[in-house]
Amino acid sequence: MRMLSLYSIKGGVGKTASAVNLAAEAANHGLRVLLWDLDPQAATTFYLKIKPRIRGGVNKLVKGKSSFDKVIRSTAMPNLDVLPASLESRSLDQLLEKRGTSHLRQMLHEVRNDYDLIVLDCPPTLSHLSENMFTSADALLVPLVPTTLSLRTLDQLQSFLDDEDLACPVWPFVTLADRRRTMHRDIMDTLGAQWPLRMSTVIPAASAVERMGVERAPLCSFAPHSPANRAYQALWKELHQRLGIA
Ligand SMILES: Nc1ncnc2c1ncn2[C@@H]1O[C@H](COP(=O)(O)OP(=O)(O)O)[C@@H](O)[C@H]1O
Ligand SMILES: [Mg+2]
Repeated sequence: MRMLSLYSIKGGVGKTASAVNLAAEAANHGLRVLLWDLDPQAATTFYLKIKPRIRGGVNKLVKGKSSFDKVIRSTAMPNLDVLPASLESRSLDQLLEKRGTSHLRQMLHEVRNDYDLIVLDCPPTLSHLSENMFTSADALLVPLVPTTLSLRTLDQLQSFLDDEDLACPVWPFVTLADRRRTMHRDIMDTLGAQWPLRMSTVIPAASAVERMGVERAPLCSFAPHSPANRAYQALWKELHQRLGIA
């Protein structure tokens, strides 16, 4: 079982859109995928037409008193399950504080044989939850809108990981890109020099991605031939190779 985390200190950069589309793409390729919505805003949960409700409550889930089976929901897509978020997910952070930094991975022990890939959609915070996620995930996939400020937050994230001796690799990828803008082009062209682990696929700014909120579905279900879906397919291909999943 591999674990990929869509993470950034910044909000509104495409974490959720990417988590949903990449998870869907992996499921299309026959992988058994669990998408865990860790953000109390529950956007992933909404996109997949699941009720924002954690059966039995977050508290029991963290304490191992309710089973994941009860909480996990299947989606309209074969091979794709969701562990939903609700406003109650706010308390995850506090609950994890008392349980050390590897509890998230331990929680997933119960389902480790049921899934080939777990995708985490994270809130834009640096917290106990994110520290748990840094010690659990195989890699942090960080969406980067090509602006100077975004590059700065990427540096901040790497410094934090270095300071805390956390070895989780950072794999940035460019999203919401607009090749007509000089700054976007410049950043895309130079990113590889500083971030050799960046993904080479670029996700364009595209209205099809915005429509996910209307269709409440991943791009592959309603805009399979759109450039944005093609880009997510290419990004998944790159990730698949990098993760070495059979
Ligand atoms: N590639 C894209 N093109 C156009 N709009 C996008 C793209 N990616 C995300 N968005 C839009 O930007 C907003 C923030 O995206 P979201 O995935 O929710 O970010 P985050 O999870 O990082 O907060 C949403 O309204 C979403 O529809
Ligand atoms: Mg989000």
